[in-house]
Amino acid sequence: MARQKFIAGNWKMYKTTAEAVAFAQAFSGIYGGGPHEVAVCAPYTQLAALKDAFAGTSVKVGAQNMHFENEGAYTGEISPVMLTEIGVDYVVIGHSERRQYFAETDETVNKKLKAAFAHGVAPIVCVGEVLEQRDAGNHFDVVKTQTEGALYGLPPADAARLVIAYEPVWAIGTGRTATGDQAEEMCAFIRGVVRALYDEAAADSVRIQYGGSVKPANATEILTKDNIDGALVGGASLVPEDFKAIVEF
Ligand code: 13P
Repeated sequence: MARQKFIAGNWKMYKTTAEAVAFAQAFSGIYGGGPHEVAVCAPYTQLAALKDAFAGTSVKVGAQNMHFENEGAYTGEISPVMLTEIGVDYVVIGHSERRQYFAETDETVNKKLKAAFAHGVAPIVCVGEVLEQRDAGNHFDVVKTQTEGALYGLPPADAARLVIAYEPVWAIGTGRTATGDQAEEMCAFIRGVVRALYDEAAADSVRIQYGGSVKPANATEILTKDNIDGALVGGASLVPEDFKAIVEF
């Protein structure tokens, strides 16, 4: 089955609302659509403005995190209900920065994944090893554990429409990209984990992105690999011309 490639920007904690709207206008002015799915994942306070600014275009909008409960005494948190109310299409779950700085665990990732599907916000779940784990040769084990933890108890139909982003932590924001072959090797491995947990059909339809220093200069090498179905782009997604070059790789 042909999987549609999916390129998502992750703005992290960058851009004010005015800057976000300016990006949307500039990007819409130079990008008229294409064969690949495109989304921008922005800070919460920019999401409603971005949905408006991208209305009538094919560009989708995502959040970068959410709580798994619908509501409750969780000061500072945002629920899936709040995201669906403003039409948010995607939510990034379990980014390595949230695992590292905000105590995200495989267990909370799993709960958030299930909540996202329950509310119709499509999750992009992130997995990836740190440098010490790769250097020690443990990267496949680490990514397998994270993937199995994220998908625990997830029905096959949800697994099939999942987006998994493989982001080796050592390649994030460092300019040190995984080679196309390293990225392909791990994305194929993750597909194998999904195959073992579910079946061939789920493995065939799950989309697996690579993330970590994706730039216009390396986008084609990465995005033309068999098992790499897209990219999760940090820094280069902040610049309309760079993001356009990547989504039109
Ligand atoms: P960079 O593209 O800036 O390395 O960030 C990758 C990332 O973390 C995307 O989620």
